[in-house]
Amino acid sequence: MTSKLDNKTVLFIGLGMIGGSIALGLRKVFPDICILACDSDESTCQDAVEKSIVKAAVLEADAETFIVKADLIVIALPPLLCAEVLVRIEAAAAQHCVVCDVSSVKGHIKKTAADLSESFRRRLVPSHPIAGSEKSGLAFANPELLVGRNVVMTPFLDGDCAAVNLVNHLWMSLGANVYGMSAEKHDEVLAATSHLPHMLAYTTVKVLSDHGAHEDIFRYAAGGFADFTRLASSDPKMWADIFLSNSKAVRELLDTFVSQLLIWRDELSKLDMDDVATSDESLHLKLQDFFQEAKGVREVFLEAHYSRKDSQARSNTNVSLIAGPGGSVVGDLRVPGDKSISHRAVIFSSISDGVTKIKGFLQGEDSLRTVAAFREMGVTIIGPDHGELIIFGVGKFGLCKPRKALDMGNSGTAMRLLAGLLAAQPFTSVLTGDESLMQRPMNRIVEPLREMGAVIESGKSGVPPLNISGCELKGIDYNLPMASAQVQSCVLLAGLYASGETTVREPQICRDHTERMLSGFGYDVQRTEGSRISLTGGGPLVATEIEVPADISSAAFFLVAAAITPDSDLYLRHVGINPTRTGILNLLEIMGASIELQNERIVGGEPVADIRVRYSVLRGIEIPVGQVPLAIDEFPVLFIAAACADGETILTGAEELRVKESDRLAVMAEGLKTIGVDLDLFPDGICIKGNSKMQFTGGEIDSHGDHRIAMAFAVAGLRSLAEIEILDCSNVDTSFPNFAVMAKQVGLKLAML
Ligand code: S3P
Repeated sequence: MTSKLDNKTVLFIGLGMIGGSIALGLRKVFPDICILACDSDESTCQDAVEKSIVKAAVLEADAETFIVKADLIVIALPPLLCAEVLVRIEAAAAQHCVVCDVSSVKGHIKKTAADLSESFRRRLVPSHPIAGSEKSGLAFANPELLVGRNVVMTPFLDGDCAAVNLVNHLWMSLGANVYGMSAEKHDEVLAATSHLPHMLAYTTVKVLSDHGAHEDIFRYAAGGFADFTRLASSDPKMWADIFLSNSKAVRELLDTFVSQLLIWRDELSKLDMDDVATSDESLHLKLQDFFQEAKGVREVFLEAHYSRKDSQARSNTNVSLIAGPGGSVVGDLRVPGDKSISHRAVIFSSISDGVTKIKGFLQGEDSLRTVAAFREMGVTIIGPDHGELIIFGVGKFGLCKPRKALDMGNSGTAMRLLAGLLAAQPFTSVLTGDESLMQRPMNRIVEPLREMGAVIESGKSGVPPLNISGCELKGIDYNLPMASAQVQSCVLLAGLYASGETTVREPQICRDHTERMLSGFGYDVQRTEGSRISLTGGGPLVATEIEVPADISSAAFFLVAAAITPDSDLYLRHVGINPTRTGILNLLEIMGASIELQNERIVGGEPVADIRVRYSVLRGIEIPVGQVPLAIDEFPVLFIAAACADGETILTGAEELRVKESDRLAVMAEGLKTIGVDLDLFPDGICIKGNSKMQFTGGEIDSHGDHRIAMAFAVAGLRSLAEIEILDCSNVDTSFPNFAVMAKQVGLKLAML
């Protein structure tokens, strides 16, 4: 397979440990590319040529001819020097030349870049491989240095996408994981995690040596001292540069640090130094608590970053929620962004031309899996930061072969939509997931994709993993056997690449976010006869801006919470009310709920409103079959409402609920019975015999790792006489991070175990 770096001339300015390692790594991965270098040290230049790390090397002063020839320039110098070099190469570099620096401070580069010409600045892609060590110099260069390490890119928002993609490709080819950040955030993060610790290490060694009898004090120093002060062996020149160029962020942290030290100094100075026996017990406790808290934080950090954090490992973590009895629901909430729209926003931005800004993105585990998958395929993504994502599209044909299986965690949407996209790529790929996803049916997408010509294999009996060998596809006219937006979207995504027209016919209307978003990206999609959706493959997608509304599926828990609990009055802000998603509103209204939509508006092509919901007496209903796909994710919590409604609520035609994150009919029936609800279960539905005076008995519920089951029973606590303990709740974070915090904010009595 060809690489974006094939036949390129790459010039390194600075051949220390980092520059040398990148050059060595590149030479290993792409033996045919031409690598040139310049350095301020003559023996480094000689060494680099003798060891065949580079084809030719000259002193920096003589670098002009190399600069003119280069397609890519990597500046591997400390930040202050790097800024000087940028100014120097601007005039000499070729019009197409892409430039990246690797320095540890990015705000400084950004400031320097502001004075450069627009055309040069747009081809400058600041990066920071976080792989340095206390060792410096070409002698320590290592071609594997970046394997499995993180590189942070801080591209400019108006950066040239091709330049950003090329630099991303450079890091990915060397085995790194690439993240995007703003320069400001990068500098704050690095000040805390790297710059402050370096300052403390240098200071500790210096203070000790000034304070004690020189070598004598070090004679008794043990491994702890060596561990703690390792950073003080780093290159002094480079670190002086770093502290000057990131002085603001470091100074702020130093202030906090010094204040904390002063607190301890003052506390200790209150003690009677001669009388250890009467030492202050409360200070002992204070110190102990402080150390304990810090130790805990470090353990969490080590666990999160140095242990296997994949789906299988996650599924072992066991969190329970305790829903305390009673309460009422009052307040004002904006629940997190819509999960379906968040997935699609990442997918379409990644394959579009240009830079897309997304606001309101759901930072839940499911949609973060989609972000991670596209990062693994070479897309540069800044954030998410407070729901904001910036995606540098690679175009429809710019994705790279993932280096490992793409782990979609708990997310059926991510797996099924990506399968459609990957079926048309010129590379092979594998999709896996967690225990629950590995049991979910995939034949529903495998069959139409094969009809389009895809080469795709599933595991036994049609479950994941999916092994996909991308190939050329042809459009089909497909009758969906079930009302599934995931299958519809999977086929449409494949259709973007297929020859001719692709048509999907829905048996009942499903959520239409794919069509709406494709239109937003300038792609022509037609819906005719109500349920027939068509597009023609081959066109491009053009980057846009997206604002993701709050997820009605997450709002549903609070809609029901307020609707079933006396004295409740709740506002839910900025909720998506796309008519293909509002089954929950329609059904609650038929049941007699008091729901008012206010400030209805269109935001980014999706209808949005603020919703006021108050308590009222509900009545059971027969659920119209056409409403089932429009409320498909909301049934767990709707069943709780049904149990609190007078009479029977009857649901049929909902066999799809049996193949969600759990068998939601069976698992809800089991849980409802545990808390005292009378019901009949059918193969495709349920009859719940409710009562507006219902008081649940409390009990222990197994959520079977299903986020929506867990949250539904958390809501049931409001009408319970005793605690409901809900097991296996860690997956709540897949769709609703911070659920418990928000729920408590408006009156639910929730605790986490
Ligand atoms: C989704 C479609 C629905 C829904 C899921 C999200 C989507 O699944 O249950 O949570 O984003 O397309 P099905 O297509 O299987 O009904």
